[in-house]
Amino acid sequence: MNIVLTGFMGTGKTLVGRLLAEKTGFEFMDTDALIESKTGMNISKIFENFGEEYFRKLETDVIKEVARLDRKVISTGGGVVLKKENMDALRSNGRIINLKARPETIYSRLKDKTDRPLLKKENVLDEIRRLMDLRKPYYENCDFAIDTDELPASKIVELILKTAEAMERRTTLL
Ligand code: S3P
Repeated sequence: MNIVLTGFMGTGKTLVGRLLAEKTGFEFMDTDALIESKTGMNISKIFENFGEEYFRKLETDVIKEVARLDRKVISTGGGVVLKKENMDALRSNGRIINLKARPETIYSRLKDKTDRPLLKKENVLDEIRRLMDLRKPYYENCDFAIDTDELPASKIVELILKTAEAMERRTTLL
């Protein structure tokens, strides 16, 4: 069984994923990092040179590869939830945990970063709100969700571990 982290950009999937991997002994994998190492290009360059659609294809290839593995903590890019085939693959051997945050929180976490091609817009906060609204039903496709606005990564990890244990107990009882 894998632990899969989904959520909008800037919800802390990578930081939480790394900590979670340390605590569980599972290996940490980040789909964006895998795409970058496969192509030898960073995400911004892939968007710039080949466009979003091509990036999404690479993303689905990587998702299908990691979903077949076991005992991994998989941190996903914010748009992974948009394709049913991605989510079906991840769910086949994974618990899906969605990390949430308010648009204002995302904005303050990302405002000085330049590595999110989808947020290269005049009004970044408006774009965060727009995308988040559009994606809300997709992020709801998860086993449980955590509001990260007020929580340090260590607390989020604790919550995930508690809930995951409860879920495993429930499935073995059934
Ligand atoms: C994206 C999120 C990014 C990255 C790409 C597209 C999205 O990952 O995959 O820029 O569509 O939300 P993070 O969620 O890790 O920032």
